[in-house]
Amino acid sequence: MVREETYDTKTFGLCIEGERYKREFQYRPGQFIELCLLGYGESPLSIASAPGEMGYLELCVRRVGRVTGVLHWLSDNDVIGIRGPFGNGFPVEEMKDKNLVFVGGGLGLAPLRSLIWTVFANRMDFRKVTILYGARTPADLLFRDELKIWADMDDSEVLVTVDVSSGDWQGHVGVVTTLFDKASILADNSVAIVCGPAIMFRFVIKELLEMGFSEEALLLTLERHMKCGIGKCGHCNIGPKYVCLDGPVFRYKELKRFSEAF
Ligand SMILES: Cc1cc2nc3c(=O)[nH]c(=O)nc-3n(C[C@H](O)[C@H](O)[C@H](O)COP(=O)(O)OP(=O)(O)OC[C@H]3O[C@@H](n4cnc5c(N)ncnc54)[C@H](O)[C@@H]3O)c2cc1C
Ligand code: FES
Repeated sequence: MVREETYDTKTFGLCIEGERYKREFQYRPGQFIELCLLGYGESPLSIASAPGEMGYLELCVRRVGRVTGVLHWLSDNDVIGIRGPFGNGFPVEEMKDKNLVFVGGGLGLAPLRSLIWTVFANRMDFRKVTILYGARTPADLLFRDELKIWADMDDSEVLVTVDVSSGDWQGHVGVVTTLFDKASILADNSVAIVCGPAIMFRFVIKELLEMGFSEEALLLTLERHMKCGIGKCGHCNIGPKYVCLDGPVFRYKELKRFSEAF
C-alpha cells in the first residue's frame, strides 16, 4: 500500500515475505527499521504503525534525498529490504494508568502514531489522552483523517496548529507550544511524549517542566544521522549514548546535561 499524505510525504504499508520472517518480525512502538534500497543505500525510518498485524508495518516517509526519493517512486507490490527492528521503543508498561500528553511537530507524528494507536487499542489501560500537533502549513499536516478519529475517542483531546496559515484554514495558527494554554493538561500522574524538529524540543521541554512535569516523565524520541543502526559505527552518539541502541526514546533526565542533544 502506498498512500500520499502530503506533497512530499507518503505512507508505505509493508508486508514481510516468508512465513518465518513474518513470525519473527515483532516490534514495539517507538522502534525504527533500516530501509535498504540496493544500489542506493539505507535510511533509518520510524515504524509508524501499531504492532498487532503479523508481518505488517507502516512507514511514513518524507522525500528529502537519494533513498527516500527512490522510495517515493515505488508503487504497490514493489520489493524492498529492511533490517531491524532497532532501538528501545517507548516504555508502554510504565505508561499504564497515566494521562498521556503527545506533542508532535511535522514528521514527528509518525513514531507517535505507533504509540497512539497502541494506546487506543488498549484504551482501558490508560487515562486521558491529549494530542498536540503542529505543522508548518495546512498542506504539511499528516494523518488528517486519523486526527479526527483520535479526537472522537473516549477521554481524548486533539489540538492542531500550523505555523503559517494558507488557503481555507480556519484552525489555530502558531507554534505547537501555543496550544498548551488551550489544552486541559494536568502534570500530575502524566507522561509527555515528544517528537519533532530539534528546535521544537527546547521550547516544549521548557513549557512542560514549568507545568510541573518531572524530568523522568518527559519522553523524547530523537533523530540522528545513522549508518549501522546497531551501535557499531559511532555515527549517532550523544555523549556516551547511542541513539540507535540506547534510544531513540530517552527521558529528558538522561539527556539534559548534553548540550548537543537538542
Ligand atoms: C531513528 C530515526 C527515525 C527516522 N524516522 C523517519 C521517518 O519516520 N520518516 C522520515 O521521512 N524520515 C525519518 N528519519 C530521517 C531519515 O532517516 C532521513 O530523512 C533519510 O535517511 C534521508 O535519506 P536520503 O538518502 O533520502 O537522503 P540523503 O540524500 O542522504 O540526504 C538528504 C538530506 O537529508 C538529510 N538527512 C539524511 N539523514 C538524516 C537524518 N537521519 N536526520 C535528519 N536529516 C537527515 C541530509 O543531511 C541531507 O540534507 C529518521 C531518522 C532516524 C535517525
Ligand atoms: S548508527 Fe552506528 S552506532 Fe548508531
